[in-house]
Amino acid sequence: MGTPPKTGKPVTLTIDGFEVTVPEGTSVMRASMEAGIQIPRLCATDMVDAFGSCRLCMVEIEGRRGTPASCTTPVAPGMVVHTQTGKVQKLRKGVMELYISDHPLDCLTCSANGDCELQTQAGAVGLRDVRYTAPQAPVLANHFSARDTSGEANPLYKAKDSSNPYFTYDPAKCIVCSRCVRACEEVQGTFALTIEGRGFDSRVSPGAAFDDFLSSDCVSCGACVQACPTATLQEKSVIEKGTPTRSVVTTCAYCGVGCSFKAE
Ligand code: FES
Repeated sequence: MGTPPKTGKPVTLTIDGFEVTVPEGTSVMRASMEAGIQIPRLCATDMVDAFGSCRLCMVEIEGRRGTPASCTTPVAPGMVVHTQTGKVQKLRKGVMELYISDHPLDCLTCSANGDCELQTQAGAVGLRDVRYTAPQAPVLANHFSARDTSGEANPLYKAKDSSNPYFTYDPAKCIVCSRCVRACEEVQGTFALTIEGRGFDSRVSPGAAFDDFLSSDCVSCGACVQACPTATLQEKSVIEKGTPTRSVVTTCAYCGVGCSFKAE
């Protein structure tokens, strides 16, 4: 989603029967929010520019083929958008099912329980059952154990990286939405993160040349942690003490870059 345009020629369109007027260049998703209509989303956030990777925000637009991503589709005069047709609801549920098929279902004991966008959006699209199981995630206990029950090395295990003093990285919970990679680039300008591999093997990485986050180019600004929609990148203090009931955001004056820190 990124920052909404503040200026630009007014454009009037219709979303779910409501007439909305927004500045030219506004995305359909942003215009929907202006009209009080929430469209499910995972990769779009105010922190970074829209890049349309999760496909959860599909909508139907009269006169257009397919189901475009509302976060990357700009408004047009006279556009008629439908955000809740049976078709898009079914497609969103299917997309979410695929995300969940490769995600541990340990929500009740997860440190992000109640503060997880994946959990919230799964509820928003009405997902109750998952028909698919990723080949490497058939037994959830195995997901977290370096050894299987016979004591052999578990090929399904994706090791957690706790090398950074401030946050942990748990690849088993990553949905590869790329928000952290983009926050590192767009917010911090560091380019310390990348995506490695393909399909089920794809993962966020601090670069092939580095063993872990601590030895990488990461400057521990926390932008990636703030951008993460799951418990993949999480502050150690949150894991130890739980999600704060109240938080204050302050801007560090150390180097003038403008990194923000959350504190209870
Ligand atoms: Fe639009 Fe992810 S929110 S594609």
